[in-house]
Amino acid sequence: MACPFARIFMVNSNGEVKVALLGSGTVGGGVIKVLQQNADVIAQRAGVKIKLDKVLIIQADVGKPILEGLNTTFDFNEIINDPEIKIVIELIGGTKVAKDFMIKAMEHGKNVVTANKDCIAQFGKELFETAEKNNVEFAFEASVGGGIPIIRPLKESLIANHLTEVLGIVNGTTNYMLTKMSENGADYDAVLKEAQAMGFAEANPAADVEGLDAARKAAILASLAFNSRVTLDDVYREGITKITPEDIEYAKSLGYVVKLLAVCKDSPKGIEARVHPVFLPTSHPLASVSGVLNAIFVRGDAINQAMFFGPGAGSLPTASAVVSDIMNIARNVINGVELHIGCTCFNNKPLCPIEESETSYYIRLLVDDKPGVLGAIATEFGNAGVSLRSVVQTNSAETDHAEIVVITHKVKYKNILNAEEKLKALPVVDGVRSMIRVECD
Ligand code: HSE
Repeated sequence: MACPFARIFMVNSNGEVKVALLGSGTVGGGVIKVLQQNADVIAQRAGVKIKLDKVLIIQADVGKPILEGLNTTFDFNEIINDPEIKIVIELIGGTKVAKDFMIKAMEHGKNVVTANKDCIAQFGKELFETAEKNNVEFAFEASVGGGIPIIRPLKESLIANHLTEVLGIVNGTTNYMLTKMSENGADYDAVLKEAQAMGFAEANPAADVEGLDAARKAAILASLAFNSRVTLDDVYREGITKITPEDIEYAKSLGYVVKLLAVCKDSPKGIEARVHPVFLPTSHPLASVSGVLNAIFVRGDAINQAMFFGPGAGSLPTASAVVSDIMNIARNVINGVELHIGCTCFNNKPLCPIEESETSYYIRLLVDDKPGVLGAIATEFGNAGVSLRSVVQTNSAETDHAEIVVITHKVKYKNILNAEEKLKALPVVDGVRSMIRVECD
C-alpha cells in the first residue's frame, strides 16, 4: 500500500528553494546552524532542499565563524532583486530598518519569515496588508515563546474553538528573576544583578522588567486568539520592579506564586490585553513554570485547556521556530500552492478599558497599630464598593505599626483605584505598600 505521506516526504530533485537571511546575530546564527546540521531531514520533510543563498550582514559580522562558506552581502538590493530568492528571513530586530526591509521584500514578491515581535505588535496591519497585496506569506512563529509552537496552534490547530482566554509567561528574564526571589528571598536589585551576570538579563533590562517585551507578545496572542487587531498601545502594562520579598512571602503563605503574566481575555466588555504581576494559585498549571522557561495556557470551548511549554528564547530554540516557517513556505513554493492563511483579524472587537477589567486583588497596607484601625479600613473598602475575602494582620518591623494584607473578591480596577485613594487619605494608613492582581482564583 502506498504511504499516504509519500508526496510530502519525497525530496523533489528538480531543485531547491533559495532563501536569504537578514541578520546573523544570536537567532540568525542559530538559523544557519539548524539549516546546516539538519539539512537532510529538513529537505525530506519540506520536500525540497532549502538553500541559504545570501546573508545580509553588517560590518561587525565580518569574519564571524558561523558565516564561513556562506555568500554574504552588505547590499539588501542584491537580495530583493534576485528573482531566485523566494523567502527572506528577517532577524535584524527593531522596528526601523527591519520593517522597511520586510515591506520591500514583500513588494518584490518575497515570502517573509520573522521573529520580530516589536514590528508585528506595532505594524502588524501594514505588514499583513502588504503580504496580501503581493500574494506572499508572512510567517512569525518565533515572535512569541521562542521555540514553543504557539502561533500556528492559534492560527491553525485550535481554530475550531471559541477561545476565551490566553495566559502567558512569555518573558524568561522576569520569570527567572521572580523564581530566584521566591527561592532565595532575595530582593529585586540583587536578582537583577545576578540575572545580568548570568547573561539572562540585558545591561539595560527595561524592556523585560517593565513588561514591554511581554506586552508585545500579548498583543500578538490576543490578535490571533480573538481574530481582532490588538496593538502594543492597546496593552495595559505594569512591570515587576515594585515586587518585594515581602510580597513573595505573603504569596507563598496564602497559597500563590508571583508571576509576570500576559493576560488576554475575550470578556463581555471587550478584549482584555494586559501584562502585570499576578498572584497565581500554586495549583494552576502556569505556577510551576520556573526559571527562564515560558508557557502559554489557552482556554477554548471545545478543548477546555491546553498549555504550551518550553524555551522562550535562545539561539537554537528560536531558530527551530524560524526554520519551521521557512519549511512550510518552501513546501508551498515547490508545490505551487498559493493559499496563504494571511491576516486572521477579521473581527473588530472593542477593547475593554482597564478600569472596567475585573480581578481579585492582594493589597498590603502599613497602618497604625491601635484600636479602630481595621474598622476604618474595612469601611473605606466598603465605600469604594470593594468586598473583602480575607484579611491578615501581622506585626510590622516598624514600631507601633502593623501590616494588613487583604485579598478582595473580584472587583473592577476603577473600584480598587477609588479604594486606594480613600485609604491613602486615612490618617491611620501610613502607606499602601503593594497592590497586585490575583488571577485564576
Ligand atoms: N527578552 C526576552 C525574554 C526574550 O527575556 O524572554 C526575547 O523575547
